[in-house]
Amino acid sequence: MSLEVNNLTKIYKLKKRMTKTAVDGISFSIPTGEIVGFIGPNGAGKSTTIKMMTGILAPDRGSVSIDGLNFKKNRKQIMMKTGVVFGQKSVLCWDIPVLDTLKLFKDMYRIPDETYKRNMEMFSDILGIDEFINQPPRLLSLGQRMKADLAASLIYDPDILFLDEPTIGIDVLSKERIRNFIKKINEERHTTIILTTHDVSDIETLCEKIIIIDKGILIYNGTLPDLKDRYQTTDLEEIIKKIYIAGERKDA
Ligand SMILES: Nc1ncnc2c1ncn2[C@@H]1O[C@H](COP(=O)(O)OP(=O)(O)O)[C@@H](O)[C@H]1O
Ligand SMILES: [Mg+2]
Repeated sequence: MSLEVNNLTKIYKLKKRMTKTAVDGISFSIPTGEIVGFIGPNGAGKSTTIKMMTGILAPDRGSVSIDGLNFKKNRKQIMMKTGVVFGQKSVLCWDIPVLDTLKLFKDMYRIPDETYKRNMEMFSDILGIDEFINQPPRLLSLGQRMKADLAASLIYDPDILFLDEPTIGIDVLSKERIRNFIKKINEERHTTIILTTHDVSDIETLCEKIIIIDKGILIYNGTLPDLKDRYQTTDLEEIIKKIYIAGERKDA
């Protein structure tokens, strides 16, 4: 599914009539089947943008369109076709075995038996979820919990997947498994993927396209090779640091 974001804006209301413009007129479009790295320093507005793109938050201005559908008219249709994972917050029921939540999703999303079976096999093969599927999330490690969350967000074959820091705080081996999994899903199902991460290797191994935001404003939207060309270096970490520092200077 393609995604189009137009002049997207979110203004949080704070105490004493103060406001904070977290996302300030962002526009971009992502064609079907791409993996896009959505990056920016802490507080840039990434999670807020993802919440608006997934219908969790309503924008104050602007619009989100997914394959021509919008949340006002086609909320349910969009929900059935999009998946989202927040590294810092699970969608799973804390006290219930992971398997029970997946079964609940099977009913909620009316997943055919074959699809469910095929997906569960894949999640076991690549993510190893069978090792902890009978445990509730509260007993899982962060890496296991993330794998369970990925399974829950992909069990119904969404066409577009939003991943907000899915590798945060996770060991190298689990990280690699998660990366391979994301890659495979994209290759086999052409799932469009929007990935927020602070991990440069996540971006290097997964993303051809990059969108950078800072203070709610779009800073860069283009390919990874073009970004490296522009900065005349292949060291992505160095490039990102330069961009973030330039943002801080503008403040001073
Ligand atoms: N619920 C909220 N109420 C008020 N301000 C918020 C809220 N959520 C986020 N913010 C502020 O909006 C800005 C963007 O936050 P966020 O979207 O979480 O950034 P990121 O995910 O890029 O770190 C930050 O300054 C943050 O403090
Ligand atoms: Mg965030």
